[in-house]
Amino acid sequence: MYKIHIVDTNGDLNTLDFEPNTNQNLMVFITDVLAEDIGDCKGRAWCGTCMVQQLGGGFLTDKIISDEYEILSRFPEMANIRLACQIFLSADLHNTTWKVLDSRQFM
Ligand code: FES
Repeated sequence: MYKIHIVDTNGDLNTLDFEPNTNQNLMVFITDVLAEDIGDCKGRAWCGTCMVQQLGGGFLTDKIISDEYEILSRFPEMANIRLACQIFLSADLHNTTWKVLDSRQFM
């Protein structure tokens, strides 16, 4: 069983089971399971509302595409941030911990 830990926008830590490689990204998983109001651009790496911060676990080393990099570079003071829509729901996420940030609260 694969588990992921997500701190939601209420500050609650949720430990959730997930099935890797189900053709989902982390943004869709978060909206489906935690009903968070993120993902305005539907995963196009344009809006930044799905911004998350990795707090623990094995850090992902996958490449960041230029659209994601452009949004993340607006927040140089924040460490370990990603767009959840650009993170494939893979086994690499097992036992990682993420905080839902939602970039709208920083703009
Ligand atoms: S859903 Fe818009 S950037 Fe991820």
